Amino acid sequence: MSKQRVLSGVQPTGNLHLGNYLGAIRNWVEAQSEYENFFCVVDLHAITAPHNPATLAADTYTIAALYLACGIDLQYSNIFVQSHIPAHSELTWLLNCITPLNWLEDMIQFKEKRVRQGKDVNVGLLDYPVLMASDILLYDADKVPVGEDQKQHLELTRDIVIRINHQFGSEEHPVLKMPEPLIRKEGARVMSLTDGTKKMSKSDPTEMSRINLLDPPDLIQKKIKRCKTDPVKGLEFDNPERPECHNLLTLYTILSGKTKADVAVECQDMGWGQFKPLLTETAIAALKPIQEKYQAVMDDQGYLESVLRDGRQNAESIANATLARVKKALGYSVPV
Ligand code: TYM
Repeated sequence: MSKQRVLSGVQPTGNLHLGNYLGAIRNWVEAQSEYENFFCVVDLHAITAPHNPATLAADTYTIAALYLACGIDLQYSNIFVQSHIPAHSELTWLLNCITPLNWLEDMIQFKEKRVRQGKDVNVGLLDYPVLMASDILLYDADKVPVGEDQKQHLELTRDIVIRINHQFGSEEHPVLKMPEPLIRKEGARVMSLTDGTKKMSKSDPTEMSRINLLDPPDLIQKKIKRCKTDPVKGLEFDNPERPECHNLLTLYTILSGKTKADVAVECQDMGWGQFKPLLTETAIAALKPIQEKYQAVMDDQGYLESVLRDGRQNAESIANATLARVKKALGYSVPV
């Protein structure tokens, strides 16, 4: 039996942080041998917010190199750049024309981000989830491993599948395949270091709110030293009054590879003065091999280019076949 297919992606806006790693990429790596995987750098999504053309290409390469550094294995996985495959934009147009406007206006991320963009909010930001649906549906993906914040976008993708299959397909001949989200409980929502009630985010203006995968040890130490805590002695999970405590213990649990039960016992009598150096040391040790591998990949641009070329070739043939299938279902003529 052939393997099920996985697709996921990250935007090349700034560095990857621990939320991206623990909520998404770590899960891609752990399960990759079970699936046929496609991981893209979603650079078309990156221009839905104001962007810097001088750094877009370099940021795209950085993310691709970080995929490899985090352990994406080309034996099981393909890495490619979204904008290198025109079918992503073309399917987006077709799906736009069957997606009701109010579905997009209801998206939480759109509502939050439009406040930040003010009156200059662009159409791309509204349309962002349809482009994401195209990324997934072009590959007939079975599973989409993401963090908790993408759940609503996955639900929208599933609604689009129901609608297109209902309007243009049949039960025996669906036009598009129904994908499922893969959201692991642990790490699905990593919170900010400066406010345990807000998610860790690339767009947070406070650099101290996140640990980036490429942060040097002294910066990691500084960020953890200054992170928000509380005056209570003894550390515990799952106390809603202590969101920072829960978040930092969760980070320690995942980064150390220990179980939640073991960490609960280990830290129950600790104060912050004892815990913070422990978390610092653990985070630095967990990120060291990623940072070393990243440097090795970046030192060999030819290799990175060949990875993206191979990835594009494998991805493009699948994407084009799906696009042709959708166009046929919608009644388009074939060029002669
Ligand atoms: P992006 O680039 O914002 O984030 C990439 C991945 O990281 C996860 N994530 C988090 N997980 C836990 N805690 C956090 N604080 C945290 N912050 C981010 C996200 O859930 C995501 O899995 N729209 C997507 C990119 C995308 C995509 C796709 C994903 C485009 N096309 C197709 C899957 C399939 C986004 O902006 O992710």
